[in-house]
This record gives sequence, C-alpha cells and structure tokens, in this order.
Amino acid sequence: MTTAPVTLDIDGLLTRTPTVRRRLDLTRPVPRPLIEECLRLALHAPNGANRQNWRFLVIDDPATKAGIARYYKAASDAYLAAGPPAAMSERAVAGVRYLADHLHEVPALVLAATRGRLPRDAPLAQQSGFFGSVYPALWSFMLAARSRELGAALTTVHLAHEREVAELLGIPADEVTQVALLAVGYTTGGPGFRPTPRQPLDEVVSWNRWER
Ligand SMILES: Cc1cc2nc3c(=O)[nH]c(=O)nc-3n(C[C@H](O)[C@H](O)[C@H](O)COP(=O)(O)O)c2cc1C
Repeated sequence: MTTAPVTLDIDGLLTRTPTVRRRLDLTRPVPRPLIEECLRLALHAPNGANRQNWRFLVIDDPATKAGIARYYKAASDAYLAAGPPAAMSERAVAGVRYLADHLHEVPALVLAATRGRLPRDAPLAQQSGFFGSVYPALWSFMLAARSRELGAALTTVHLAHEREVAELLGIPADEVTQVALLAVGYTTGGPGFRPTPRQPLDEVVSWNRWER
C-alpha cells in the first residue's frame, strides 16, 4: 500500500482530525483494502450490548455516487437556504457547499446504517443507544483514516432523502435506518491539520453540580 504514515501521537490524532471537505483529493482513488482496514478498526468501537447492529455500505461506483450526490445536493441546498447555524463560520459554510457540489467526485462514500427503525415514541435511552451505537465507530473510522493519510467528512444532510437513497442502494428502509454518510479521500496540501477549534474546557465542564 502506498500510504505514507502520518506521524501523529494519539493526542495529536484526537485533536487534529477535522472534517475534510475542500482538502479531499478528488483525483486519487482510495484502494478498497485501505477502506476495509479503517472499517475493521472501527468495528472495535463500543456499541449497545455489543449487538453490532451497524452496517456499512461502501460506494465507489461513479454512477451510484452521482445518484447519491444529487439527493445530497438538494438536501444541502435546502439546509443552507434555511440559514446555516450561527456557530458555523463563512469558511465552514463554503466548505459545506463545496462538498455538496463535489460529492459525486469524492473517491469513496461510506454509508453507515443500523438494523431496525426507532419507534417515534421510543424512550430516551433507546433513542440514545440507537444512534449512539454507530457514532463511536464513525469517529474511529475517521481517526484510522486520518492516520493513513486519508480525510473524511461525516455528514447527515442527505437523510432528508433517506427513502430515495435507500431505494437507489437497495436498502430495505423499513428494516434498516441510515445514520450518516462519510465522504472519504486522500487529503491534499500535506499531512498537517491545525487542532480543531473548540470551546475551552471551563466553558463546558462543571464538577459535582450543573453550572453550565
Ligand atoms: C452528527 C453530525 C452531522 C454532520 N453533518 C454534516 C453534513 O451534513 N454536512 C457537512 O458538510 N458536515 C457535517 N458535519 C460536520 C460538522 O459540520 C463539523 O464536525 C463541525 O463543523 C466541526 O468542524 P470540524 O469537524 O472540522 O472540527 C456533521 C457532523 C456531525 C457530528
């Protein structure tokens, strides 16, 4: 495999794994074994009762990617037209738009899903466990990808068209829930990324009694 290792210690990996959109290399295919390596590592993530209800569909077929990208773009345009969240910088919004315009060119898409459908009135613990049993694996995938010179963007916007995308991909939508779509590619512009910008600890953490 022609992947130069990214020399980051674990703390570096945890702090410097951003959402990669504009720096995805749209010209360089990602070998399937590399994606499988990242998925194999991701499968060690914690999940409710170790049920491992997660399922992953990797899409690298250009026509299928184009089909998904059309729904993604429609959903993303609607999302941005409604007004992006105040917390997002103009630069980040431009990145969101860029990804929506180029999703069909991204080398690989990893669709994460989970078996079952959540009942509308599901108790909070069930809701949390349902989606929360997939997200740790997605983050593990992103970290594994990052350490292999790949970048990824975790996205959910296409879920506005979950049913249409399910039909396109042959997913039985009454039995399987889509959770997120990862756009995956090699990164451009060198291996470096700045730490992701986050609030300081004391703004979000309190001890023993709720203060925030
Ligand atoms: C649950 C979830 C959903 C997200 N959905 C999208 C999305 O649909 N499109 C997108 O471009 N980014 C999406 N993101 C990426 C966030 O916008 C990104 O993590 C955030 O702006 C912080 O940027 P950073 O990860 O580079 O630090 C999503 C992230 C999460 C965790």
